[in-house]
Order: sequence, then C-alpha cells, then structure tokens
Amino acid sequence: MRSWHELIVIAALVAACGNDVGIPEGGDDAPPIDPDACETSFLDYNNFGAPFVVNWCRGCHSSAVPAGMRQDAPADVNFDDAADLVEWRERIRTRATGTKPTMPPAGGPTETERELLAEWLDCGMK
Ligand code: HEC
Repeated sequence: MRSWHELIVIAALVAACGNDVGIPEGGDDAPPIDPDACETSFLDYNNFGAPFVVNWCRGCHSSAVPAGMRQDAPADVNFDDAADLVEWRERIRTRATGTKPTMPPAGGPTETERELLAEWLDCGMK
C-alpha cells in the first residue's frame, strides 16, 4: 500500500507528463465563458488585466525590458497597455488559459487566476 504522499507525487508526475504530450500550442481547452455570466463579471483592465500581466507576463513581454533580459520572448510581443492585450487576445487565450497552459513558460498562475483570465478575455476585456 502506498502512502498518500507517494500517490500525490505519482499524480503530479502523470500530470507533468500529460503536459508534454498535450496540445503543444497551449491549453485553450477552457470552454468559452457563458455570455450571461459576463453580465455579472466585475473584471476590467484596471482591477484584473493590468495586475495579471504585471505579475505574470511583463517580466518578459514589455517594451521596457531590455533585449538581453527578455528571456527569448519575441521582440514584437509586448503587453504594455490595454490595446496590446486586445491585439493579442486570441494568442493569450490559447497560451495562458485552460488545463495545459504554456505561458508563462515556467507556470505560476493558479487555476483560478487562469479561469478569471479566460473570463476577462471572453467578456470583452473592458
Ligand atoms: C520568462 C519569460 C516569459 C514570461 C514571464 C512570459 N512569456 Fe510569453 N513568451 C516567452 C518566450 C520565450 C516566447 C517565445 C517562445 C514561445 O512561443 O513559446 C513567448 C511567446 C509568447 C507569445 C507569442 C507566441 C504565440 O503563441 O503567439 C505569446 C502570445 C505569449 N508569449 C504570451 C504570454 C502571456 C500571456 C504571458 C503571461 C501569462 C507570458 N507570455 C509570460 C517568454 C515568456
């Protein structure tokens, strides 16, 4: 009989392997947010979008980050302001939401934060 913590390690390993064989492009398997739910969504750029990208994306994806410190983030992929995020909406949805996200490369945001990101992206990014 394995102990519960051994089982957790095994589950984590299985989950990690699942990422390797999953959708390489990103984890965009989160279903679209129900438009009715958007009626009550309180998320906007100031209270959610900006802090989310400050915490999780702008360390690499900002035109203020010098070329040598972007950790290979493409020079033209910057999330400096709300307009940039609107422009990159579809790719952000693909790379950073769902169960197999590929951004940030080392992970970080919780599942709940990623669900909120999907909600903000799907509800019009107000
Ligand atoms: C540690 C640095 C780093 C952080 C933090 C980071 N990225 Fe990236 N990003 C990269 C690198 C490197 C690439 C190019 C390789 C690739 O596409 O996987 C990239 C490419 C991208 C692209 C362009 C390629 C495409 O799929 O269209 C998007 C969009 C993107 N990242 C979104 C994000 C989002 C959203 C976040 C925050 C949730 C984020 N990244 C955080 C390093 C980073």
